[in-house]
Amino acid sequence: MTAPLSIAPSSPAVVVPAPAKINLALHVVGRRPDGYHRLDMLVAFARTGDVVTAAPGAGLSLALEGPFAVGLATEPDNLVLRAARALADAAGLRDPGACLTLEKALPVASGIGGGSADAAATLVALDRLWGTGFGPAGLAALAERLGADVPMCVHGRTARVGGIGEIVEPAPDLPPHGLVLVNPGIPVATPAVFARLEQRENPPLPALPARFADVAALAAWLAGTRNDLEAAATGLVPAIGMATAALRAAPGCRFARMSGSGATVFGLFDDAAAAGAAAGALRVARPDWWVVADP
Ligand code: C5P
Repeated sequence: MTAPLSIAPSSPAVVVPAPAKINLALHVVGRRPDGYHRLDMLVAFARTGDVVTAAPGAGLSLALEGPFAVGLATEPDNLVLRAARALADAAGLRDPGACLTLEKALPVASGIGGGSADAAATLVALDRLWGTGFGPAGLAALAERLGADVPMCVHGRTARVGGIGEIVEPAPDLPPHGLVLVNPGIPVATPAVFARLEQRENPPLPALPARFADVAALAAWLAGTRNDLEAAATGLVPAIGMATAALRAAPGCRFARMSGSGATVFGLFDDAAAAGAAAGALRVARPDWWVVADP
């Protein structure tokens, strides 16, 4: 494909949400010869997230906005631009043009897939803006090259994820629930957490039910699962343990656990009201933490 696509300057901008990815369960089940870890995970997506906007433009440009934009300002090659170039290359576009804006609402390096979600949203937005027609399956193949978490973010729905992140299978949607995300404000480098693992061959997830009847059923299933990165991450950043304990102690919290390689911790509640009350109290107790009740 070498279609010299021309985008009329009046083409509307494409706005794509980049929701936070929550690793409800993350089992490390082995290691590949190249050092990457084989995982078995249940992953869901919040409503809270970044937003990627792609508008017609000459050349590729990226503007950073939002509360956590400053954390990315010094990054030489944002994953959003790498995703844009990967799509342009794959589509054979000689002179790709787009004016990209990333509204960064999620803390950086925090275990909820911010950068991966941004890359996935960029692929989706530009596939639409440029009319390159890859669609979800084509974009998933591209996504794999951008990072282990990017394919599941292209999928964007509750999934059981295997391999190093490239095997994405649909999983039952979560029952109605309330969700609180807490980040104690310390970035965590994922490779450092994997490097600290003492045990890399662990049992896979138990069988998933056809559906979770309610939050109590989901919490009961999660109680039989693990995040195998939690001990290693907490060893590096003890505040993760404090955030988890604070969420677990919140009235109405059914389940709390670290997501990804940390430091963000999620808490499940029966509904949005319980989650909102818990988030309000946590914000008062720890004004230095990032605390969000998912809308
Ligand atoms: O693919 P991504 O850039 O998100 O991964 C960051 C790092 O995390 C990798 O370089 C690798 O050290 C580690 N990792 C891993 N096994 C995975 C995913 C990531 O060891 N399945």
